[in-house]
Amino acid sequence: MNPQALSPRLQKLYDLCQPKQPVWDLCCDHGLLGLWALHSETHPCVVFNDAVAHVLEGLQQKFGAHAPRAKVICGPAEDIVEPLDGNVVLAGIGGEKIVRILQTHAARANLHATRVIACPEKDAEWMMAQPIAGYAIRDRLTIPHGTGHRWIAVYEPLRQAPKNDSP
Ligand SMILES: C[S@@+](CC[C@H](N)C(=O)[O-])C[C@H]1O[C@@H](n2cnc3c(N)ncnc32)[C@H](O)[C@@H]1O
Repeated sequence: MNPQALSPRLQKLYDLCQPKQPVWDLCCDHGLLGLWALHSETHPCVVFNDAVAHVLEGLQQKFGAHAPRAKVICGPAEDIVEPLDGNVVLAGIGGEKIVRILQTHAARANLHATRVIACPEKDAEWMMAQPIAGYAIRDRLTIPHGTGHRWIAVYEPLRQAPKNDSP
């Protein structure tokens, strides 16, 4: 079964994901972005997370033959214990919550994403002013949304300074 086509907003977020890396669709609701990523066969695994159990019901039936590369985690994104790696997508929730989720994982040394793609429904400018330990915003984009626009912030890990072996 082919996944439902993405809206321009979700398509843009998916296009920012790095290929060959896992995709974490946090606060996924219907999981459309994650399903698209899963069916694209370009990611080694796709994780679907939402705090509300019933929104995740029925998701597994849409995995089809790709089920071995999919994982569903029900509960607050802040409480995920597995290391967040590859692409972490956070969209459709407020900027304050996005910052809380990212700061919680960064403080627990659990944020190992190669890229974080954040598209809040509100408080975007506040969000982009908050520090996320070990990460910097590499790109800020806007996309038309309804009668206005939404911000997308792309975070990547800070580059470590090369070790200087000389005395
Ligand atoms: C508007 S939907 C966004 C769906 C999708 N990410 C998108 O952008 O279209 C917001 C979802 O976030 C979930 N959510 C809110 N707070 C959460 C949290 N702390 N952890 C996990 N999911 C959360 C809600 O249950 C809801 O399904």
